Amino acid sequence: MLCLGIESSCDETGLALVDNGLVVSSCLASQVPVHAVFGGVVPEIASREHLRVLPGLWADLFRNCDRSPQDIRLVAVTRGPGLLGSLLVGLGFAKGVAMGLSVPLIGVDHLLAHLMVSGMASPLEFPFLGLVVSGGHTSIYRSESSTSFTVLGRTLDDAAGEAFDKTAKCLNLPYPGGRLIDEMAVLAEPDRKMLPRPYLDNQNLDFSFSGLKTATANLIASRPEFVQRHMSTEGTLASLTIHPDLPEFCASFNWAVADTIRIKIERALARYPDTRMLVVAGGVAANSAVRAIAGQLSQVHGISLAIPDVGLCSDNGVMIAYYGEILGRAGFFHGQDLDAVPRGRKVPWDYRSI
Ligand code: KG4
Ligand code: ZN
Repeated sequence: MLCLGIESSCDETGLALVDNGLVVSSCLASQVPVHAVFGGVVPEIASREHLRVLPGLWADLFRNCDRSPQDIRLVAVTRGPGLLGSLLVGLGFAKGVAMGLSVPLIGVDHLLAHLMVSGMASPLEFPFLGLVVSGGHTSIYRSESSTSFTVLGRTLDDAAGEAFDKTAKCLNLPYPGGRLIDEMAVLAEPDRKMLPRPYLDNQNLDFSFSGLKTATANLIASRPEFVQRHMSTEGTLASLTIHPDLPEFCASFNWAVADTIRIKIERALARYPDTRMLVVAGGVAANSAVRAIAGQLSQVHGISLAIPDVGLCSDNGVMIAYYGEILGRAGFFHGQDLDAVPRGRKVPWDYRSI
């Protein structure tokens, strides 16, 4: 069942074709260079960029595969959470394609798509605990099937990716700096006493990274030699001036985030002993410390681990097409009145079913 997936929730425009769980074609346009100079995503510019690049991506999508638009049987689109203007561009495009081809339209929850695409490499085992760690979200889910999810915990303020990006901003690294912090972190061992592991003095499964952000900002203020004099526009490690102590700071930051995640996941595993698998997804799932801790958790608790390849961790169209096809096969779809759900609001489970 050839499914078109459209992703435009933030600063990546992604299109993909998935058939029977396999990628037929995919393309991605990143706006990172456009926003880097502003130190973060500028919503108005992001929407305009999606609008500008979509027609070119559509042509690219069919250029190197043996399918045509008439072969599409389902159109899946990110309906939230995300930047409202950006979501609306993707939704408008999706509605046009679905209407033009007279095929069902399926709105996809971006966060569930991050989790579910982990099943592309090998089947997911239910019930699973799912951790989404991205630029906008840090949430723990329990899933009993590909259409049944309960949120067990979420961030009360900054997401893990935001903590990385804000720390990177303090260091005058180009946006989004999470990857650069991680690349420096692997060059040193962490000092486990340097930074606090935030919001652990409670029994819940929520996260709060604002305390870590403040501690980091204070530490950087006391070590001005860590800060890049000029912001590199290249986004490569080679383009940075790296103070000898900076990798240790980055490793300590990596550890503080990853170990906080470990403690919350262990707590969730204790509450749900029937868990068969840990699924870790989202942009920060590319982080070396998070990946290492996910591996340890699965070994220590004797459960399987699903974590997407680094290339599929950040936003892409494949995850939308992949989960869209699962939903379509289960008989779930939306009407042309499908609305966008901006960040901060819960994406409703409001499918019509066949
Ligand atoms: O999932 P994603 O592409 O977009 C959202 O849905 O938010 O996640 C982007 C986030 C950014 O904050 C970026 O800095 C972070 O993922 N990120 C990383 C790494 N690679 C990407 N953070 C830490 N370590 C990495 N290796
Ligand atoms: Zn995402």
